[in-house]
Amino acid sequence: DKCRSGSRGALVVLEGLDRCGKTSQSTRLVNNLDELGYPAELFRFPDRNTVIGQMISSYLNSDSQLDNHTIHLLFSANRWEKRSLMESKLQRGITLIVDRYAYSRVAFSAAKGLDIEWCKAPDMGLLAPDLVLYLDISPEFFLSSKRGGYGGERYEQLEFQKKVAQAYQVLRDDSWKIIDANLSVEGVEEQMKSIVLDCAKTCRNGKSLSELWL
Ligand code: TMP
Repeated sequence: DKCRSGSRGALVVLEGLDRCGKTSQSTRLVNNLDELGYPAELFRFPDRNTVIGQMISSYLNSDSQLDNHTIHLLFSANRWEKRSLMESKLQRGITLIVDRYAYSRVAFSAAKGLDIEWCKAPDMGLLAPDLVLYLDISPEFFLSSKRGGYGGERYEQLEFQKKVAQAYQVLRDDSWKIIDANLSVEGVEEQMKSIVLDCAKTCRNGKSLSELWL
């Protein structure tokens, strides 16, 4: 709808190691934006509600085994399933807060030793985020913290998380904002709120959507 084409929503992605607080922070962000007059919705990858998402979920719970390349492609397909829905919401002025995106897959697969260019290829043409917030936490942090439930899923092992942290370093570019996630929940929330608001304003003022990889 042409009247609204100049006022799209922003695509904001949260990335970080397992248990860095992405999920609670993304919910808080959606509420904050809504209150400030920027309608927002939460997306999350993997989206375990689709058929592909269920295959991913069973793999993560170690109920099934898959070749590293196969699981990589399933994670990517899971994002492609949502691409057109995401685009139409953005065009209608809704800001999307996305809990993990293509960077997660590349970081996790690269940590397993897959070639990074091969890892990036299947996500080429997905919507590019306007902003990536990296919740920076030391891999050792959750061991000493009260964040519960760690270690239940396939990837939640300290040595593996250290490799993922290194792989994320390679992916960082200027569009990334590094958030100190070792602070209190409220401290992290405050850091993120103003950055996201700036981004939502820029998009509302007509910044155009682009595609991966930039
Ligand atoms: P979650 O705990 O945020 O639901 O994510 C589940 C796991 O899936 C987490 O260990 C990160 C991993 N992951 C990938 O390996 N590749 C991806 O593309 C995504 C989105 C997540």
